[in-house]
Amino acid sequence: MEKKRVFSGIQPSGSLTLGNYIGALSNFVGLQEEYDCLYCIVDLHAITVFQEPKDLRKNTLDVLSLYLAAGLDPEKSTIFIQSHVPQHAELGWCLNTITPLGQLQRMTQFKDKSSKTKEVDAGLLNYPTLMAADILLYQSDFVPVGIDQKQHLELTRDIAQRFNSKYSDTFVVPEIMTPKVGAKIMSLQEPEYKMSKSSDNKDSYILLLDSEDETRKKIKKAVTDSIGVVNYTDDQPGLKNLITIYSSFTGKTPEEIVKDYENIGYGVFKDDLAEIVVEGLRPLRTRFEEIRSDKEYLEKVYKEGAQKASYLGTKTLRKVHKKMGFIAR
Ligand code: AMP
Ligand code: TRP
Repeated sequence: MEKKRVFSGIQPSGSLTLGNYIGALSNFVGLQEEYDCLYCIVDLHAITVFQEPKDLRKNTLDVLSLYLAAGLDPEKSTIFIQSHVPQHAELGWCLNTITPLGQLQRMTQFKDKSSKTKEVDAGLLNYPTLMAADILLYQSDFVPVGIDQKQHLELTRDIAQRFNSKYSDTFVVPEIMTPKVGAKIMSLQEPEYKMSKSSDNKDSYILLLDSEDETRKKIKKAVTDSIGVVNYTDDQPGLKNLITIYSSFTGKTPEEIVKDYENIGYGVFKDDLAEIVVEGLRPLRTRFEEIRSDKEYLEKVYKEGAQKASYLGTKTLRKVHKKMGFIAR
C-alpha cells in the first residue's frame, strides 16, 4: 500500500524557538517511517515581513541544519527550500483566483500582522493561498503544525474543495495533525500570548540556538504566580505552560507531574525543568554545530530535495493547468 503523504514547513524568519520545536519540528521526526514526508523551509512566506537579505540567507541554512540536527533524514524525507521549487508560487497564483478576498481579510494572522504595520503589502494578505499551494501541490494527506495554523488549514481545505467542485476532482483535502501536548507553547513572560520568535522580549522565548546557560536563566525567570502550588490550571497560566513543556520532554502527563511536585515549591520545579530542557536539547545543539559548518552537505541536501519536490509538484501543476484550460507546454 502506498504511504500517505505529510507536508509541513517552517519560516526562516528568525531563529527557531522551543515553541517551533515542541509544536512542530520534534513531531516531524517520528512521522518519517510511516509517511512519505516533505519538509520545507518556507522562505517565500518569510518575506511577507521584511527580512534583511543576509539574515534570511543565514536563517534559511540555520533552519535546514536544525531540521537535520533534530533527526530529519534526507534518505527518508524530502527536505527542501520553497523558493527552489517555483511550482509553489505558480500554483499559489492559480489558487488566488478562487479565493474570496473577504476570507483572506478575516484570517487572524493577517489581522494581527497587518495591525502592526502602517503599509500592508499584498503578500501578507495572500500568505494563506501560498500556504495552500504548498500543501496541495503534493496531494498531502496530513499537515503537522501547531494549533495557531488551524485557521490556515481550514482555508486550505476550503480552497481544495472549491477547486474540486469547480474544475472536477483534483486535490486531496488535507487534515491538520497537532500534538496532544504542546500544540501551543506560550510566552515565558506573558503566558497569555504564544511563544514567538518575533517578540521584542528575549526572555519570553527560548531559542533552540540559545546557550545552555541562557536556557536555564530564561526558565528560572519565567513568570508564574503567587499561589505557590504546582498545579495545571487556567488560573496559573505561567505554570501550566511550564508543565506542558515538562510533559513534552519527559512524556509524563501533566497529572503525573503535578503529583510529583506535591508540596514542592516552584524553585525546585523550575530547576528540574531547566535541566530537562537543557538535556533534551543537548544532542540537537551538538549536531547543529557539526552540520551547520558543512556547507557542501547542506547544499547536497537542499539540491536533491528540490529536485524530488519539483518532480512531484510538476505533476500536480500540469493537471491544474489542464483543468483550468491552459494550453499544454
Ligand atoms: P513559524 O515559525 O510561524 O513558521 O511556525 C512554524 C511551526 O511552528 C508551525 O507549525 C507553528 O504552528 C509552530 N509553532 C510556532 N510557534 C509555536 C508555539 N508557540 N507553540 C507551538 N507551536 C508553534
Ligand atoms: N504558515 C506556517 C507558519 O507560520 C508556515 C507554513 C507555510 C506552513 N506553508 C506551510 C506550514 C505549509 C505547514 C504547511 O507556521
